[in-house]
Amino acid sequence: MYSKTTNPDISIDRLKEISTWVSSVQDIDQLLELIIETATRMMDAKASSLLLVDKKTNKLFFKVATGEKKVDVKKFEIGMGQGIAGYVAEKGEPLLIPDVSSDPRWYREISDSIGFKTCSIACVPMKIKGETIGVVEIIDKVTGDPIQKEDLKILSVFADLAALAIGNARKIANNKKELKNLKKELDHRYEIIGESDTLKKVIFDAVKVANSKASTLILGESGTGKELLARLIHRSGLRKDQPMIVLNCAALPETLLEDELFGHEKGAYTGAVGRKIGKFELADGGTIFLDEIGEMSPGMQAKLLRILQEGVFYRVGGNKSIPVDVRVISATNKNIANEVSEGRFREDLYYRLNVVEIHMPPLRERMDDIPFLAQYFLNIFKQERGLSHLAISKGAMNCMLVYDWPGNVRELKNAIERAVVMGNGIEILQEDLPNLASNPKYPGMEVGLTLKEAIDSFKKEFITLNLKHTSGNRSLAAQAMCIQRTYLSRLISKYDLH
Ligand SMILES: Nc1ncnc2c1ncn2[C@@H]1O[C@H](COP(=O)(O)OP(=O)(O)OP(=O)(O)O)[C@@H](O)[C@H]1O
Ligand SMILES: [Mg+2]
Repeated sequence: MYSKTTNPDISIDRLKEISTWVSSVQDIDQLLELIIETATRMMDAKASSLLLVDKKTNKLFFKVATGEKKVDVKKFEIGMGQGIAGYVAEKGEPLLIPDVSSDPRWYREISDSIGFKTCSIACVPMKIKGETIGVVEIIDKVTGDPIQKEDLKILSVFADLAALAIGNARKIANNKKELKNLKKELDHRYEIIGESDTLKKVIFDAVKVANSKASTLILGESGTGKELLARLIHRSGLRKDQPMIVLNCAALPETLLEDELFGHEKGAYTGAVGRKIGKFELADGGTIFLDEIGEMSPGMQAKLLRILQEGVFYRVGGNKSIPVDVRVISATNKNIANEVSEGRFREDLYYRLNVVEIHMPPLRERMDDIPFLAQYFLNIFKQERGLSHLAISKGAMNCMLVYDWPGNVRELKNAIERAVVMGNGIEILQEDLPNLASNPKYPGMEVGLTLKEAIDSFKKEFITLNLKHTSGNRSLAAQAMCIQRTYLSRLISKYDLH
């Protein structure tokens, strides 16, 4: 029971509290209770309740109840159209009934069964975008006076407030759900497929390093999955709920790169109409992934080194140092040690970036992964095109297993996509993979060649490989193959390998 004398100061304080809560919606149940209790107190009501429509059962249930029988009343459910609450929920119009006993709409079972004497009721709908989501009602006044029209107005204000709070809470809950789904989908998209021991070792190292803040440099040929590994490190570590910001260092000229990394202040240069937050600042608390770091200009290298050393940076045109806590992962397909020894990449920056170095092995060094990857990509593309029965033929798989994949996993992914598009929709055949057939892993291993043709084919490939390895240095290549330099030159002419 509430006291007869209502203190208006308490109500105003409560209203203030409610208004801050409605905008932040920390705990919707508590907030609704507060709204209803305040309304009850303000109108000096004997009891009150907030009922919500359950869309599945199309019934109203008690979300909040006050008054001496608040526990008992919560056990009931009310059908749409049933009783006064059901009537208001169905019609969407407020209702004031000074004497319920003379109103045919009154559903007396609840009052009777819980033993709560009811004389008058005021009930108003709660609406979100015109749709009634529930009702709020008050029963009798403590003073014994009848409920007035004025009370109905006040009750409507509280009902609107409650509807707003519920709407906000539902929106937040939906957003959270959507975010979770999106995250799951993203994680799925960045899944690393492969069963080879080589890959498993890499993943093991990545997960181990994930829980530290150690700067990590991922090396490896193009298309090996360096970015996937960077994402795995981020989402396996303590920073997984913070952002991972990706920046491709090769895609931008120096001035734009600086702007992207550090942001700028308004008026920093012509066209800087507002403040821009850079990627380092966006990544605060999380991870920044600097892709293709080997392409960074010397000027930018110096600036990056400064932020890594000092943990603070300045926006372009700004004079306030901004501290950031960022984990740095970088990647390159360049031979970075070589870049350092030839003076194109700062040694001090190199040591800062590769506290831990992880090498992503090329696909040809983990051929066991090919069937898994092929099947994984096939599943993705066949789903996209609705070809649920599409499979890979033995011939096509054999062809993939002897190819050396210079473009690594990316090339495999593209090959499967092409085969899905160009093939017969039932089975991927060898001829659906034309680019692979012309570059077998073992040159000369083709049916239809004479032995001499096969040997010539092998020699050509072998010499080319050795020349590539020695950057075209014929003496070194000849030495590596244990043949005379002059003989090598003759073979180069013979096979037209200039
Ligand atoms: N183990 C793997 N499992 C599933 N997909 C993979 C795997 N490795 C690579 N991929 C896919 O291959 C493509 C290339 O991968 P990613 O971009 O990570 O390579 P990268 O090493 O960063 O290449 P680049 O040096 O060219 O930037 C992507 O589409 C990626 O999803
Ligand atoms: Mg990449």
